[in-house]
Amino acid sequence: MTSTHKYDAIAERYSEHDYADAERYYARRAKLVAAQLAPGASILDFACGDGGLGRHLLALGFDYRGVDASGPMVRVARRSLGDRVVQGTLEYTPPEPVDATTIFRSLYLAPDRRAFLEHLHGFTRAKLIFDFDPRAHAPREVLADVRAAGWRRVEVRPFLTPQRGKLPGPLQALLHAIEPLPGARALTRVRFPLLVSASA
Ligand SMILES: C[S@@+](CC[C@H](N)C(=O)[O-])C[C@H]1O[C@@H](n2cnc3c(N)ncnc32)[C@H](O)[C@@H]1O
Repeated sequence: MTSTHKYDAIAERYSEHDYADAERYYARRAKLVAAQLAPGASILDFACGDGGLGRHLLALGFDYRGVDASGPMVRVARRSLGDRVVQGTLEYTPPEPVDATTIFRSLYLAPDRRAFLEHLHGFTRAKLIFDFDPRAHAPREVLADVRAAGWRRVEVRPFLTPQRGKLPGPLQALLHAIEPLPGARALTRVRFPLLVSASA
């Protein structure tokens, strides 16, 4: 069962409600997604919200599509992304395979995570990219489901941009610089999500 009431109610101000600096956050996320993909790759973004990330990925030249269960969120997203965004749940299957599938801040919505990851594997040619909160969901279990669903190479790194706060520029730059380093993951014990990139 899908309940999107919470999101329906805030759709018009979703990005400013959920992010301290949404454009900066989406830009950083889009940059890391782009680094994983071939130029112009097709991307299907589940639980895409108001299309904030989509606008950035489209501007970077990707063939972006989004799907979200909330009618009001889809209406807001369509203002800038048109029919690239459709209303649908996590059971949605695109009409054609896509190069990459993404799902941000929403994997926990899947009632059966492994089955959902298998579903994505069925129509995703190259990459699955998602984030999750490692304090709420044990990384070992999440990554075991990713592998069991057929994703072979799995890479994990912290995403060190705060969602609801803004750090002084030099500190933020330092965090971005250390993101790929092995020890940086320790920071996610207290804050920040993990970003996962898996190959089909
Ligand atoms: C936390 S927001 C994440 C939005 C966006 N991905 C982001 O990172 O800002 C969760 C989104 O999931 C959508 N949603 C909730 N249940 C869903 C479902 N079963 N299938 C698809 N989307 C769903 C909501 O409407 C909302 O837009």
